[in-house]
Amino acid sequence: MPAAEDVPVIAIDGPVGSGKGTVAHRVAAELGFLLLDSGALYRVLALAARARGASFEDAGTLAHLADRLDVAFAAGDATDPVRTLLAGVDVTREIRTEQCGNDASHVSACPEVRDALLVRQRGFRRPPGLVADGRDMGSVVFPDAPVKVFLTAAPGVRVERRHKQLMAKGIDVSVARLFRELAERDRRDRERAVAPLKPAEDAVVVDTTGLDVDFVVARVLEIARLRMAVVSRDE
Ligand code: DC
Repeated sequence: MPAAEDVPVIAIDGPVGSGKGTVAHRVAAELGFLLLDSGALYRVLALAARARGASFEDAGTLAHLADRLDVAFAAGDATDPVRTLLAGVDVTREIRTEQCGNDASHVSACPEVRDALLVRQRGFRRPPGLVADGRDMGSVVFPDAPVKVFLTAAPGVRVERRHKQLMAKGIDVSVARLFRELAERDRRDRERAVAPLKPAEDAVVVDTTGLDVDFVVARVLEIARLRMAVVSRDE
């Protein structure tokens, strides 16, 4: 069994609607790598905090919940390829609402929460490799990842994609409201003091505006193959 630091990580970061979730899934499937959807961890924590009636300002309780978070991921179906379980209960749908995304953005601004989830996220780094999707995968969680990609897209395109995704899941929300909430969430994720959303210094930034998902997947795979070849040659 190779040491964790020898297991390749492809870090895919970016804001809501940049396409990172879909791209991460496809890249992981293509390479046979494990997948970490770090946003799902923050979403599940937000759900657990709401169920407890915990305040999003109460760092102590949030960190306590994060430490003990009983979350598991399992294979799903075509609509939801990954099922998420909180204490054995299927919360796949609940965690995908905009409300839960916004709640997750609040709880994730708490430094104690980020600390509590750090080791758990690093635990996903297992052979043959990991594709990690989030906001700080390349900058904080896996700073030594050989491959770091930061996906962006114009705000209007991101709102449109998010709207389509939600409609496909049967979640109805107005475009205008989505636009407002997305801008607010972006601002909070970018401006928080700890692990703000920004590209790692050594990340390749890919603007996905006007690109279809096949093209972006191919581009990320190309970056990954080049970078992984360079890293193994230098060893
Ligand atoms: O990627 P997502 O929409 O599922 O993430 C939900 C929120 O969780 C996001 O607005 C900010 C937070 N998050 C984070 O702070 N760090 C990550 N690595 C992933 C998500």
